[in-house]
Amino acid sequence: MYNTITMKESHDSTRQPVSHKLWGGRFDKPPDALMAQFNDSIGFDRRLYDADVRGSMTYAKALARAGLISTEERDRLVAGLIRVREEFAAGTFAIQRGDEDIHTAVERRLYELTGPVAGKLHTGRSRNDQVATDVRLYLLEQVDRLGEQVTALQRALLMQAEVHPGLLMPGYTHLQHAQPILYAHWLLSYFWKLQRDRERLGDVRCRVSVCPLGAGALAGNALGIDREFLARELGFDAISENSLDAVADRDFILEFLSGGAILGTHLSSLAEDVILYASTEFGFLEIDDAYATGSSLMPQKKNPDSLELARGKCGRLIGNLVSLLVTVKGLPSAYDKDLQEDKEPLFDTIDTLSLTLPVLAGVVATLRPRPAQMAAALDDAMLATDLADYLVRRGVPFRESHAIVGRLVRRAEIEAVPLGKLPVSAFQSESPYFDADVVDVFDARRSVAARDVPGGTAPSAIRTQIERAWQHIGGTMNAE
Ligand code: ARG
Repeated sequence: MYNTITMKESHDSTRQPVSHKLWGGRFDKPPDALMAQFNDSIGFDRRLYDADVRGSMTYAKALARAGLISTEERDRLVAGLIRVREEFAAGTFAIQRGDEDIHTAVERRLYELTGPVAGKLHTGRSRNDQVATDVRLYLLEQVDRLGEQVTALQRALLMQAEVHPGLLMPGYTHLQHAQPILYAHWLLSYFWKLQRDRERLGDVRCRVSVCPLGAGALAGNALGIDREFLARELGFDAISENSLDAVADRDFILEFLSGGAILGTHLSSLAEDVILYASTEFGFLEIDDAYATGSSLMPQKKNPDSLELARGKCGRLIGNLVSLLVTVKGLPSAYDKDLQEDKEPLFDTIDTLSLTLPVLAGVVATLRPRPAQMAAALDDAMLATDLADYLVRRGVPFRESHAIVGRLVRRAEIEAVPLGKLPVSAFQSESPYFDADVVDVFDARRSVAARDVPGGTAPSAIRTQIERAWQHIGGTMNAE
């Protein structure tokens, strides 16, 4: 054995431990320096320290319950683990050579603090069930926290919608003028996408909340560890059903990354809409200076970098999902070191969303719509559908009225006049069902008000939508 203190030697309590390794007994020499660097995950998994300490404290309790350690030993282990956690929290924990990963580092330090009793903590446990437990514990907290950040963005959208209840703007399909809508309707469309994202996070949570501890390396625990106790103490909803599966299952991370990628596409679309609407050509929105940047060369520039980054970061959210999918594809059962590659995509998605969500909430909360520009962009042709509906209400089959209105649109285009400015005689030349009141159709506010089905853009429907939206995020209209 190459390391300085063997487990056998460590029984000699008079000897001061100087090193504590998790493995190495069957090795003649330590890993090559580059191999160690290649193998180490401490550079990115130290954020799991709190989960690792919690898992270990609970495991110590389970060991005592199984009679494998005394209650006095349990208490020393727990006290030592609390010290280790304090050192991490205070930023004083010193990573040392040989600290492969967070589990190794915590146990090494525990050994320094408590002596040989630390060597009993890992009884029947493997880093395979340990890391799976740690990541789940960590992710449970993150899922809840991210859910709250999504809610905050939803709230910003809702409040923005409430401040501008009747504001009209052009609605687009294919990025072409389609029909007038309310600004609030556009904002709320993102509320509901985010609502589904939050529900997805909730779904993922069920699958994350399963405790693998006690699965050992792959075959289970031979020492009578109470797995139900472990799960309960750690706040999990269930225990894993198969130890071989438990140590290798990373579906819960894939699901989270998938939910994160989908959420990312929504944030990216929202960002794209705002970028477009805030462009000089559209001019519908003004982004607050706090969320824009300038140009080092062109003094007039105000660039929507916050939104471009939100759009751009979607790439890595999707990449993180694809990365882990490719990593796990075709792995033989059960644990393989490939699985250590789960962490960086997971952490990156968490970190990316943790920053993107509040930035976007800030952008939305401070958006200033420009009603005059929105109104100026509305044109009569956007009411062509309303014109067709006018004929439909007079009994003309929709297909026929569609064709009639199409010809009128063409004629207005050729004569270079707004559709509503064609003489009534022009309308009547296409259909005898047109009366002088046809001019009333060319009113965007009226068009919007007509769409009062549930989910429609009419002010009355928007009021209901806003009420329902508040119910989903636990607030009330005009309450915040
Ligand atoms: N750092 C490792 C990981 O993240 C911990 C598990 C190591 N298990 C093992 N059998 N080498 O996956």
